[in-house]
Amino acid sequence: MKDIYTFPENFKWGTATASYQIEGAVNEDGRAPSIWDTFAHKSGKIDDNMTGDVTCDHYHKYKEDIAHMKDLGIRNYRFSLSWSRIIPEGSGKVNQKGLDFYSRLVDELLTAGITPYATLFHWDLPQALQDAGGWANRETAYKYRDYADVVCTALGGRVKNWMTHNEPWVHSFVGHLYGDHAPGLKDLKTALQTAHHMLLAHGLAIPVIREKSPGARIGIVNNLEWIEPASMDSRDRDAADRHDGAFNRWFLDPVFYGSYPKDMMDWYGSDAPEILSGDMKTISAPIDFLGVNFYTRRIIAHENHGNFLKCRQVRYPFMKKSNYEEWENNAEGLYRLLIRLKTDYGNPEMMITENGTPLPDVLEANGEVHDPERIDYLYRHMGAAWQAIEDGVRLKGYFVWSLLDNFEWCLGFTKRFGLLYTDYETGKRIVKDSGHWYSDVCRKNRIEL
Ligand code: FCB
Repeated sequence: MKDIYTFPENFKWGTATASYQIEGAVNEDGRAPSIWDTFAHKSGKIDDNMTGDVTCDHYHKYKEDIAHMKDLGIRNYRFSLSWSRIIPEGSGKVNQKGLDFYSRLVDELLTAGITPYATLFHWDLPQALQDAGGWANRETAYKYRDYADVVCTALGGRVKNWMTHNEPWVHSFVGHLYGDHAPGLKDLKTALQTAHHMLLAHGLAIPVIREKSPGARIGIVNNLEWIEPASMDSRDRDAADRHDGAFNRWFLDPVFYGSYPKDMMDWYGSDAPEILSGDMKTISAPIDFLGVNFYTRRIIAHENHGNFLKCRQVRYPFMKKSNYEEWENNAEGLYRLLIRLKTDYGNPEMMITENGTPLPDVLEANGEVHDPERIDYLYRHMGAAWQAIEDGVRLKGYFVWSLLDNFEWCLGFTKRFGLLYTDYETGKRIVKDSGHWYSDVCRKNRIEL
């Protein structure tokens, strides 16, 4: 007998992308450089030395990409807007041509019967703002609020689902402490101040979005992990708690409870961010949904000479490795994480705003791309989502990362996550087996292997 799981009526199935990863056209129609243009052009920063200059050329091919979604029956699409296309200097003069692109995109989506979900910030800060101190400068939060105002004034009548930030942990820590992402800095205090100002910007933008986009549903997207201690030893448990504190709770508690976790404030000591009076109230303005990007589980052990958290990730031979070294494929982790969010954060409405896996996909001579492992991965994670809903989690949607293979940040084009295969030589898109399989999921609102 087949295992078939049907989802609640009106469950939102979609796909996700981000501006710098797919658009290309970096010098067109008045767009100015973002920190990702600068970073990717520095030698040695991107695994294959590539950039997002052209990538999927979605700026010119958006109609074709939307037509693919329509053909496949995908009814919801999450994309991000490039701030430096819209306000090239980060603040001040608006570039109408940049706004027009997103206006055309939204119209095309709506005509195709696809609901737009727009992310205001997916890491491509205008370079001009970085030159003035970037997110570590408090002013950036106010400039972000003005940018949100411009965007929502133009699109707020047609777009009703907004996400303020994508993964503030990645942007603040990977970009400002580990140095692997733009802007490539390596300083804990800067990373924490960046995170605080990103959260502040989120809170400042909420009333603006509500005003300019009446009836809007607003969320923030966090990358969250299921974290387990490597043993019952209290030192391992403390290390896992710290990892959870830095990675998950630091970005959830301020939004849901208006405070940073006390254990982490103590741990950070003099590196803790400067917080002005009223900030936490601003940050904890009510949201309508939490966006969850889920990729992996992490098992954590104590490490004396480890990083600033004094912990390390443990890998066991029995784990199912993904094609991205650091990640274990563990769908149960998604189930456990969703239940934890329900329990610890007051059962908020949630959407899985990203989930997917990279594979070394090959375009066969007959024009097909067979990716059974991706189908298996998606099936199991969707199954975890289904079970969480059964157990009372208010999960309303699931978006596959990604619609199409694209520029995977510091990994360049070495990783393919798409439901559509991107042939970078010709620019052609080819629906992978997983794309056909997902089409069936969307149309029938159920999963089966
Ligand atoms: C997430 C990012 C997304 C993509 C996936 C693989 O962290 O939000 O842009 O890179 O990982």
